[in-house]
Amino acid sequence: MARGRFITLEGPEGAGKSTHLALLAERLRAEGIAVRTTREPGGTKLGEAVRGLLQYDAAGEAPVPRAELLLFLASRAQLVQELILPALRRGEWVLCDRFCDSTFAYQGYGRGMDLAALHALNAFATDRLEPDLTLLLDIPQAESRARVAGRDGPADRFERERDDFHRRLAEGFRAMARECGRIRRIDSSGTPEQTAEAVWAAVSPFLQKEREDA
Ligand SMILES: Nc1ncnc2c1ncn2[C@@H]1O[C@H](COP(=O)(O)OP(=O)(O)OP(=O)(O)O)[C@@H](O)[C@H]1O
Ligand SMILES: [Mg+2]
Repeated sequence: MARGRFITLEGPEGAGKSTHLALLAERLRAEGIAVRTTREPGGTKLGEAVRGLLQYDAAGEAPVPRAELLLFLASRAQLVQELILPALRRGEWVLCDRFCDSTFAYQGYGRGMDLAALHALNAFATDRLEPDLTLLLDIPQAESRARVAGRDGPADRFERERDDFHRRLAEGFRAMARECGRIRRIDSSGTPEQTAEAVWAAVSPFLQKEREDA
């Protein structure tokens, strides 16, 4: 049976994940692909409720690191089973704004939790679903800080973290991109148009393959 492709966008705050997810979805739809877009944490009713707990302490207190991890994984488990797998089975492509690599970067490299444990827990939460392709949108830390500072609204709990936390997670993302073939690092410090072209250059071979297989 035809199965859609599962593509995730990752990277530090303000790198352009949400911007390029929307642009990529538009471009794929113009090519006749059925696309489902979603985000983490969130994407389901349960996940969106968890997002409030994680980002703005909606429960009235901040989660401790282990609770934080499990809340992210609860949101992911719901998203995989309720939205991602059904869409892929229908042959749709799923584009997700953050997924497992954010857990490894933020909770692993950022908070210092054991990476092997995170991989095992993530595999349990996702029932071993992995992205077919991950686009790591990368920008220098100062640029990330400047883009976040330019936004309206209160900073979330992660945006308020110290610079060394953000440095560790950005280095973690880069290390993962070097080690893992599914992750493509894309420089997102230029214009949105330049980044969009680099995104398309990474995705279009998958479209080519889809057409050859059809
Ligand atoms: N090359 C670029 N690609 C995308 N956005 C860019 C680029 N250069 C500058 N920007 C600006 O950076 C911001 C990116 O915001 P966006 O919400 O897409 O980032 P994000 O990675 O989703 O952030 P967050 O992790 O906080 O959700 C926008 O304000 C956009 O105008
Ligand atoms: Mg975003």
